[in-house]
Order: sequence, then structure tokens, then C-alpha cells
Amino acid sequence: MKLGVLGSGKGSNFAAILRAIQAGELPVEIALVASDVPGAGILDLARSAGLPTLTLHEPRYRTRLSPEVEESLVAALQAAGVDLVVLAGYMRVVKGPMLDAFPRRIINIHPSLLPAFRGIAAWEQALQAGVPTAGCTVHYVDASIDTGEILAQTEVPVLPGDTAETLHARIQQAEHALYPRVIRDLANVLAP
Ligand code: GRF
Repeated sequence: MKLGVLGSGKGSNFAAILRAIQAGELPVEIALVASDVPGAGILDLARSAGLPTLTLHEPRYRTRLSPEVEESLVAALQAAGVDLVVLAGYMRVVKGPMLDAFPRRIINIHPSLLPAFRGIAAWEQALQAGVPTAGCTVHYVDASIDTGEILAQTEVPVLPGDTAETLHARIQQAEHALYPRVIRDLANVLAP
């Protein structure tokens, strides 16, 4: 199975996926790593690993890609033979061109126990709400934000004295274990 990975940030989840592949624990190939942020850490990581990268230039919108830029992303993913699109810290809303080209083939990881705390800085929302348990969720991507069908979740305790930073770090540790595991399970189901 060939993955296309899409991210806007430092790429720690991508790094965890890469480590799992290199350890022989995840029998997939990364066919393309794309980012909407020139200079994003995820692109540096991909280049260091010798993987093909794509930088998307979107001058018009901040929260989504314009249709023509998203079409160019679809074309690049298809040309690379991508079976599953993995969002790893991708900070834009996925729109029609991608959803039509990859139905139930786009997944995302979100730093909360969805459906609680959708959207930005979910760990801060959890802290402010005073919940005893936070966590992370892997879900299919649909036309809305953090609403797609849930594939798997990991609970993470909120500890006394937690700050946004300490809680986020603990959630990210859980993400790095969960995401490769879910991708492996999907590969087993989706593999030809
Ligand atoms: C993760 O916390 C993920 O839950 C959210 O974006 C963050 C990406 O971090 N969707 P990284 O770039 O993988 O380090």
C-alpha cells in the first residue's frame, strides 16, 4: 500500500510512521509527502529520508486550498500511485477535489477524544474544560472538521499541574503509537 502524507508542521507523526516502516513494523511505502507550508519540518524530514516531496503554493486562502491547487495535489498523489492519504498535522480543510478522488481513503489524527474538542488546540480546550482524561483520535476525513467516522482512540490522563505544553506532549506520545498502528490495520484491510 502506498501512502501520501500531507502536513503543515514539524512532522512528528510522520517521523513516527517512518520509524515504524524502518523498523519493519509497518508494511507500507511512502510515495509522496506534501505540504502547504514551504520550509515545514515535515518536508525536511521527508527529504532527509530520500522521499519525494511536493510543496503547495496557496496565495489566496488560509484555511483551505483553492480548487485548482487542490486539483494539482490530487494529480500528484494519483501520479504517485497513492492508495491512502494520511493527514499528519495538515492545517487546512480538505475540500471536494480530494474527497472525490479518495473516498474513505483519507485519514487524520486529532489531539482529543472526538467528538469532544474539535478544531484548533484541542488539548487546551480539554485543559480549560477540566476533564480528567484527554487523548487522540484517528478518523476518516469528511467534508466537515474533525467529524468523520472514528477508527481508533487512545486515552491520555490529564495530570495535576499539567500545562498546555505538558498535556500536548503526552497526547503526542500517544499519537505516535496510535497512528502507525491504525495505518497497519488499514493496510491489512485495504491491501490488494
Ligand atoms: C498533532 O498533534 C495532530 O494531532 C494534529 O496536528 C499535530 C501535528 O503534529 N492534527 P506533528 O506535525 O505530527 O508533530
